[in-house]
Amino acid sequence: MKKLLLDVDCGVDDAQAIMLALAAPSVEILGITCVHGNTAVENVCKNVLRVLQVCKKLEIPVFKGADRPILGKRLNAGSFHGKDGLGDAPDPDAPGLDQLQKESAVSAIVRIVNKNPGEVSLVATAPLTNLALAVRMDPSLPAKLKRLYIMGGNTESRGNTSVCGEFNFTADPEAAYIVLNDYQCPTYLACWEFTCYNKLPWEFCDAWLAQNSHKARFMAKIFSHSIEASKTERFEKEFIAGSGLISCDSYAMAAAVDDSFVVESDQFPVSVELVGTHTRGMMVVDTLGLLNKTHKVFIIKKVDMEKFRKMMMAALK
Ligand code: BDR
Ligand code: CA
Repeated sequence: MKKLLLDVDCGVDDAQAIMLALAAPSVEILGITCVHGNTAVENVCKNVLRVLQVCKKLEIPVFKGADRPILGKRLNAGSFHGKDGLGDAPDPDAPGLDQLQKESAVSAIVRIVNKNPGEVSLVATAPLTNLALAVRMDPSLPAKLKRLYIMGGNTESRGNTSVCGEFNFTADPEAAYIVLNDYQCPTYLACWEFTCYNKLPWEFCDAWLAQNSHKARFMAKIFSHSIEASKTERFEKEFIAGSGLISCDSYAMAAAVDDSFVVESDQFPVSVELVGTHTRGMMVVDTLGLLNKTHKVFIIKKVDMEKFRKMMMAALK
């Protein structure tokens, strides 16, 4: 059984990734920690509870985390995910925030990893504020993690939030810097350009949403805002390499639930630009080894797309 802890800014693609993990065999989700990002952290918490309700998994504990980055202004991605993060398609029967755990996300991460040393993998599909605060609270944390999977960063300086910055890193560059420098455990990155080059065709999306299930109907409802947005000129440009279904966070999640999903990766030390005029939040890949860092991350290059399609289909069954 794989033990996973998920850190999310539930967003539509986070919802897709959570549902993928919930449907995966031999995966135990020990908790879901919430952080600011696509929308305010209160909305993120509500969205996670909604996803868990749809999947009949409300017993999984949900924790509220940081409501803003370590420094600077809070961003959001409402133009793509909707103001509430889930396509502005509310459900009057959604669970209330009274269902949240009282413990904070950061202390839950520290507690759960320490209780299961060497067994827990962390999957972060959001700005890395909670993870950065957790390692400041407990510097021994990375040594006790099995693996860390992150959706974030970029490899070709193609931005989706600023000229050169991917959303999760740009929404909290200091946190991304701390995590990439201090989490010296096996770390897998699903970066922005990689996710763009591995989009699924719209025909797949139609078949995916047409499945006769409550989960598929829920997804069709919350995803329609992002589908419309994806077909506009702005997002077609941003999404590099043509139009299609892009579920960024699901790649990091698929890597965490199935070891054979990643077929090829590069191994390099990485860091994050903190001061550039146009490049703050951009990931720096040290291909020449000039940063004198010993820790190298796995930058995912090629995955088993047939497996991905199957996992995505299963998520909505
Ligand atoms: C990332 O930013 C968010 O909007 C998505 O949920 C994903 O985690 C893509 O850059
Ligand atoms: Ca996300």
